[in-house]
Amino acid sequence: MRKALAGAIPSPNIWNSPRLYELENAAVDPHGRIEAAMREVRDWSGAHVLDVGCGTGYHLPRFAATAARVTGVEPHRELAAAASSRVRGLANVTVAHGVAQSLPLPDSSVDVVHARWSYFFGPGCEPGLVELGRVLRRGGTAFVIDNDATRSTFGGWFRRALAGYDPGAVERFWSARGFQRRSLDMGWRFERRADLEAVVRIEFSPEWAEEFIAGHTGLEVDYAVNLWWRGY
Ligand SMILES: C[S@@+](CC[C@H](N)C(=O)[O-])C[C@H]1O[C@@H](n2cnc3c(N)ncnc32)[C@H](O)[C@@H]1O
Repeated sequence: MRKALAGAIPSPNIWNSPRLYELENAAVDPHGRIEAAMREVRDWSGAHVLDVGCGTGYHLPRFAATAARVTGVEPHRELAAAASSRVRGLANVTVAHGVAQSLPLPDSSVDVVHARWSYFFGPGCEPGLVELGRVLRRGGTAFVIDNDATRSTFGGWFRRALAGYDPGAVERFWSARGFQRRSLDMGWRFERRADLEAVVRIEFSPEWAEEFIAGHTGLEVDYAVNLWWRGY
C-alpha cells in the first residue's frame, strides 16, 4: 500500500522517524519567535486556520487554543492518523488526508494558512499556490516557513549538504508572487546532546551528519528561517 498520496514530496525525516521529528519540533524556536512574528502580521484568534502538510499535527493544538477552527492536511497516511489521534478531544480541529495541490476544502473557507517545511519550497509549488488562492477568503493570509540558507549554523549545514540549492532563486520566486519575507533567528535547543545528534542524523546524510556533529558542541544550534507571508 502506498504510504502517501500522489503529489506528496518525500520527507524522509518525519516519514521514517516520526518520534525523532517530535524531538526536533520540541527543540525548534524555544523563544517562540516564529509565532510572535506571525501574530504581528495576522492574529488567528477566532479564525479558520489551515495547516498544510501538518505531519503528526504537532502545531495543531496551539492554533486550536485561540482559533475558531483548525484543519490539518497531510498526505502521509500514518502521519495523518497520528495527527488525528493527537487532536482527538479538540472539537474545533479536523485532520484531512490530502495534498497541497488539491486541498480537500471548499472555496473561500480559510482565513490563515500555515505551511512549515512542507511542500512550499519555492519553484515547483505553483499548483499549491493556486489552491491557496482558491481556499483563502478575501482578507486571508498565507504563511510559509522554510530555511534561510544564507546565514546561521544550520543554514551553512543546509547549503553544504544541498550543493545545488539557490537561495536567490527561492527569494525571487516568492517576491515575484507578492510574498514578503522576514528572516528569523529561531534556533534549536535540546535537553540532551543525544537528541541533538539523533535529529541531525535524520536531517542529513550520514557523512554530512557526522561531520556537522563532530564540529559542533553543546545543546543549541543557531538556525535562521524565512517567514514568507502574503495577504489575499
Ligand atoms: C518536514 S515535514 C513538516 C511537518 C509539519 N509541518 C511540522 O512542522 O511538524 C513535511 C510534511 O509535508 C508533508 N507533505 C509532503 N508533500 C506534501 C504535499 N504535496 N502537500 C501537503 N503536504 C505535503 C509531508 O508528508 C510531511 O508531513
